[in-house]
Amino acid sequence: MVSFSTLLSSLVVLESTASAFSVWDPLQRVLGLNDERLIVTSSDETPIVVSEWEKLGLKRRGVHFFDVTEHRSWFFSEDKPVVVPKYNYPTTVEHNQTVNQLITHIDKANLHDNLAHLSSFFSRYYKSDTGKESAEWLFRKLESIVDNSTHPIKVERFKHSWQQFSIIVTIEGSKYPDDIVVVGCHQDSTNLLFPTLMKAPGADDDGSGVTTNLEALRILVNSGFQPETTVQFHFYSAEEGGLLGSLDVFTDYKQKGRNVVAMLQQDMTGYVQKTLDNGVEEHVGVIDDYVNPELTDFVKLMIDSYLTIPWRETKCGYACSDHASALKNGYPSSFIIESDFQYTNPYIHSTSDTLDRLSFDHIAQFTRLVLGYTVELGFHKFKRVDV
Ligand SMILES: *[C@@H]1O[C@H](CO)[C@@H](O)[C@H](O)[C@H]1NC(C)=O
Ligand SMILES: *[C@@H]1O[C@H](CO)[C@@H](O)[C@H](O)[C@H]1NC(C)=O
Ligand SMILES: [Zn+2]
Repeated sequence: MVSFSTLLSSLVVLESTASAFSVWDPLQRVLGLNDERLIVTSSDETPIVVSEWEKLGLKRRGVHFFDVTEHRSWFFSEDKPVVVPKYNYPTTVEHNQTVNQLITHIDKANLHDNLAHLSSFFSRYYKSDTGKESAEWLFRKLESIVDNSTHPIKVERFKHSWQQFSIIVTIEGSKYPDDIVVVGCHQDSTNLLFPTLMKAPGADDDGSGVTTNLEALRILVNSGFQPETTVQFHFYSAEEGGLLGSLDVFTDYKQKGRNVVAMLQQDMTGYVQKTLDNGVEEHVGVIDDYVNPELTDFVKLMIDSYLTIPWRETKCGYACSDHASALKNGYPSSFIIESDFQYTNPYIHSTSDTLDRLSFDHIAQFTRLVLGYTVELGFHKFKRVDV
């Protein structure tokens, strides 16, 4: 495998120096990477036509983008929502005792077992057979968790034009069912050298976010959680393809007139080594660009109230993870990550994104955050404050 990887790496180096791109056409075709795609890489929304292969090259260079191929008419239309409503998010905690009680149930052995299973698939690449299998496993896992609920909780597949489906878990609100509070993460993984050929354990990216949310959901269900607003857990497919799964989900929500009042994305919650190696205190990275500032203030309140580590503001750039799909559809969203961006996991998108590099204490901190976020917002009366 080493020599194979080396060969692939040399090809990647060659790719960036090749003047005639057509040299790569046959290889792209053989690997199924020659599809033409339409992407957007910055807030000026200039459409760019690229092949799948070129998309990988951009990602390797750290460029984030929306792949809007399947949503081009909506994305470039005049009436795309530009105003994101402002809501009266809580400015103090009201469910301190409940949340602190729930926090005592966080089980690190559980976090470990779920992440071990998720990262054991050859790859969770969205267009692969194993990516479909991992989605089926996650679906059954979610069904087994909600099985303990005293009231009905829906676990549904959200299908796309590729193999791996997204999953949506819905705990319907008893008083304000139309106000939807979303907790998101992405279930797919990728290997940026050759996604169709190489292993992609994706333990941190984003197995850790999935694991964080699975554990929070398990604890909420077993406590008999019955919120007044609707609370949903989303497990998106194809984030690594350019936010494809979440774009499908949130454009569908927008078309159906659904009212998402808050969306919190968690993408990478487990790696802390580089932070510690630099002599920096363990912390949560709170993204402050391309997010909703009011919701982000509330997220900071949750960290101050329910975690034992502090937060630091950091930037991630345009279209960095699935929260961007929510915001683009006019839904307020926030994004938290394992640390300040400069200390995040350097092994992602490769065969080395493995579980042994992660801290389950750190993942447990993000589970605390989800418990605080869902309970405080689950019993909140939302009002728009900008109209
Ligand atoms: C929250 O609850 C904990 C114990 O459950 C208590 O020690 C703490 O003082 C409370 N904080 C607030 C702000 O009420
Ligand atoms: C369901 O509840 C039972 C009884 O309390 C418990 O033993 C089991 O672990 C729970 N299942 C899950 C998935 O939490
Ligand atoms: Zn990710």
